[in-house]
Parts: sequence; C-alpha cells; structure tokens
Amino acid sequence: MFELLTRVPDDPILGISAAFKRDATPLKVDLGVGVYKNDQGQTPVPAAVKKAEAEIIATQGSKTYLTPVGNPGFNAQVLELVMGSDFAGRKDDAAAVQAPGGSGALRLGAELIRVSSPRSVIHVSDPTWANHIPLLGGAGFTIERYPYYSAAQHTIEFDRMISHLEALPSGAVVVMHACCHNPTGQDLNLAQWAAIADLVARRGLLPYVDLAYQGLGDDLERDAASIRTLARQVPEMLVAVSCSKNFGLYRERTGLLIVLTSSAERAAIATGQLGRLARTIYSMPPDHGAAIVDRILSQPDLRRSWAEELAAMAARINGLRGLLADGLNARVPGGNFGWITHQRGMFSRLDLTPAMVETLRDQHHVYVAPDGRINIAGVSATNVDHVATAIAAVMAES
Ligand code: LMR
Repeated sequence: MFELLTRVPDDPILGISAAFKRDATPLKVDLGVGVYKNDQGQTPVPAAVKKAEAEIIATQGSKTYLTPVGNPGFNAQVLELVMGSDFAGRKDDAAAVQAPGGSGALRLGAELIRVSSPRSVIHVSDPTWANHIPLLGGAGFTIERYPYYSAAQHTIEFDRMISHLEALPSGAVVVMHACCHNPTGQDLNLAQWAAIADLVARRGLLPYVDLAYQGLGDDLERDAASIRTLARQVPEMLVAVSCSKNFGLYRERTGLLIVLTSSAERAAIATGQLGRLARTIYSMPPDHGAAIVDRILSQPDLRRSWAEELAAMAARINGLRGLLADGLNARVPGGNFGWITHQRGMFSRLDLTPAMVETLRDQHHVYVAPDGRINIAGVSATNVDHVATAIAAVMAES
C-alpha cells in the first residue's frame, strides 16, 4: 500500500528551520518561522510559565483523563482574556473548547462548519498564513481569496476588500486575522473593523477569526478589540485562539476554539458537537499547556509577571521594526521603509522574489520565508547590520 505514497515537498515555513539548522556558518540569521526570540536569538520560556509548571508538577496528584473539551478552567480564563471582562455581552452564547494549539482549533472549527454547512466556501485574505489553505481545505472546503494587502503600497486594499465581501453570498465563511496579520503585519484599524462588522452582520457572512498573537502587537486589550467589535454586532462567529506565542508554549499545543452562537441553548449544542468531533479525531487535547495557562491567568502574581514579560516582548519587536527600517533606509538607495514601523506583530513582508530569497539564504545566510515574509523578532542589535546589508545587496542586484 505505502508504495503509492509520493514524497512531499518541504513545508514553506517549517522547512526554513530545517535548512537553517544545516547551515554551519556562525553569521547565519533565522527570520523564518514565527517564534519570539530575545537579543541572544533564544526563544525563552516565560518566568510565569516556569513557575506555574513547577507548581503543577509539585501538586498534581493524578493525570487521569479530563474530557474531549479539555480543561474547564483554561476554557473560561482564555474566553475572558479574549472577549474582555464583560464578554462583549455574549458570555452565555459562547461555546469555548480547548484544542491542540491554534491550528487544532482552526481545524476543529472547520469540522464544526462541515457538520452544519458542508457546502460553505471559506474565504481567506490575500495573502494569508501559508498553512491556512491546507489546514482548512483539508477539512473538505473550497478556499477562495479576498483582496487584502497592496504589496506595492504596503497598505490594506480596504475598498477592494469591502466590495469583494459585499458580493459574497450569505453563509460564506470569512477568515480574518484579529491582529498581527500573518504574513504582512498590516492590520485593519478600529474604524475599518467597525465597517467590516457592519457588513458581515448585514450580509449574513460568518467571521472566522484567527487570534495567534494577542499581546504581541499593541497590548492584550487592543489586540482583541477586533474580536470584541465583531462580537457586539454579529450573531455568530468563530475564534481560533493560540497560546503558542504569547505564553511561549509552542510545542505544548495549547489553543481554544470559541464559537459564538445566538443563544445559550445553541452554545450548549455546539459544545456537545465539538466534544464529539474532538473525540473522533484525537479524543482529548493535551493538558500540560492548558493547566499552565489556567494557573497563570487565575493567580494574580503569575498573571502580572506574564503580562509584563509579554509587554516587554511586544515593545522589543516594535523597537526592532524601527532598527530594521533605519538600517534599510541607510543602505537601499531611495529607500523608504517607514511602513515597517507601522505594522504590528512578528511579521512584515519584504518585496523579495523567490530568487532573491534564495540568494539571501545561499550567499548571505539570512533565512526568510519564500514569499519574503520576515520574522522581525529574529532581528537583533547584533545582526541588524548584516541583515540590512544582505537585503540591500539582493535588492541592488535585482
Ligand atoms: C508561522 O507562521 O511561522 C507560525 O505560525 C508557525 C507555523 O506553524 O507556521
């Protein structure tokens, strides 16, 4: 049977890490996969995570099963972190179910849509996270794109986006990035979110919001304002939440799926369906990361320590944006890279062709995603000169 399997190409994002590891040059710089890095190029475990983890290990008396919907404390805490202390007035309408990471949450939500509306078409921004299309398409959906980003202007193509969404049929699923758009770093402003909320409610579209970077753009509250704006206006929506980046829990696969419905009864039905779906795919989500997040968010000292460390991470990334823009402005003739400083989160996308990306890697040992996306957190005071010089060199050669 397995002789029928064919070799798969490298993952466009994860493949960069593998190539980076193989490179023996000390000069090498990894601006590929979206993980936070400190000035030493390390991805630290936040102090609050270390502490919560030690406390859990010291006190946990059993590792018996929880349930397919996961840790109830985690579900309630993360729901509130996302929706705000007033839950955008929708607490009773929300199903909140733990999932294996943000990706697991995205897929679980897609499976729920398939149960209830198998013919739906899912619309993603152009461009979007490289894994959105295989991940959501893998649940059996047709995926289409809506206009989002002007690569030439480094701005949102808002008018084109609005007219495109206006023309979608009722029931169309629209995947949106709550903040820190991946791969462009270009977010909608609040007035634009309000207009989208109005359109989506009026046209009967279903928003499916991906929240993978809460706290890494502006701050915990402002990064969730998009979701709260939508929740006040639309009857139904889904939110896939990742705790990978903001809690530094990447490999612990810690995420939440929120399904906002039109009543408490529908929310209970959705929870039951999600538990059944989880049971048929992986039975139950892993507990360790969720137990850590639950402990951090429910203990004021840990919560404060975590929020401070997260704010420092966001501040560092935003500072690096300025450093990189200055470095490029100084080296690229006529360079005007100020737009990098207006974007948010880990990513920006440089105007690099795949051939330029290869030259950056092979001749300068700077690793970026094939579409020119760079992880700003991989830049540092130590490597910024090398990075900016390398990018300026490949731009000059093109
Ligand atoms: C990224 O976009 O680099 C991250 O979300 C990691 C991943 O899984 O692709």
